[in-house]
Amino acid sequence: MQRLDKIICSQSMKSRRETDGLIRRGRVTVNGEICRRPATHIDPDVDEIAIDGTPLPFSRYVYFMLNKPAGILCVSRDPKAKTVVDLLSPDDRRRDIFPAGRLDRDTHGLVLLTNDGELAHRILSPKHHIPKRYLVRLDGPIGQAEIKAIETGPVLADGTKCLPAHLTVLQDGGEPLVEITIFEGKFHQIKRMFGTVDRGVTWLKRVSMGGLTLDDTLQECEYRSLGKQEISLLFKGC
Ligand code: URA
Repeated sequence: MQRLDKIICSQSMKSRRETDGLIRRGRVTVNGEICRRPATHIDPDVDEIAIDGTPLPFSRYVYFMLNKPAGILCVSRDPKAKTVVDLLSPDDRRRDIFPAGRLDRDTHGLVLLTNDGELAHRILSPKHHIPKRYLVRLDGPIGQAEIKAIETGPVLADGTKCLPAHLTVLQDGGEPLVEITIFEGKFHQIKRMFGTVDRGVTWLKRVSMGGLTLDDTLQECEYRSLGKQEISLLFKGC
């Protein structure tokens, strides 16, 4: 059983204040009866809530795969900048959604948006070593010595030792395109790893987390919900 006002807040972008206003003004019904008490306890799996006659579907957990463009903050809310949650349509936006794992503002690609704190914890826990695969455009050529240094797990400028990584050169040349898989998620990790071999990252895109690969039919800014089986792919092979 949960409080009516808490349920409505969690399923929409409405603040607690707005929600209380709606309830007190008699615009909310529970099983067809007007309910004016925000603290009323109901069972959201059984009781039907409607606002102005429109049923409010209840889903405890939601999971979305988003193709993040550069320039968008990977946080839930920001007073000034647009965030990954702002890219969701009003119907999908809820106050409790957050990105499970951060990408830098200028990084593109796969972001998982959810309100499932336990799942996010499992994904982010260093215990699981979930592989994360990125495509990286570098600002200078990369040779065998640099590849080896990155693959054996470089020591970052602040002394942090990285775990070994896998690196494949996809396009050689003056500004090579490489694919790298890392098994942890330190702050600015890819940029700092390439920094140890004096290479700058000019473009970065995350393409997979565990066995979950970014759907290539999703244009930048687009997203879709994920099924249970796809969620379990996150931990495949871990
Ligand atoms: N590593 C980075 O440097 N930036 C990201 O956004 C993700 C991984």
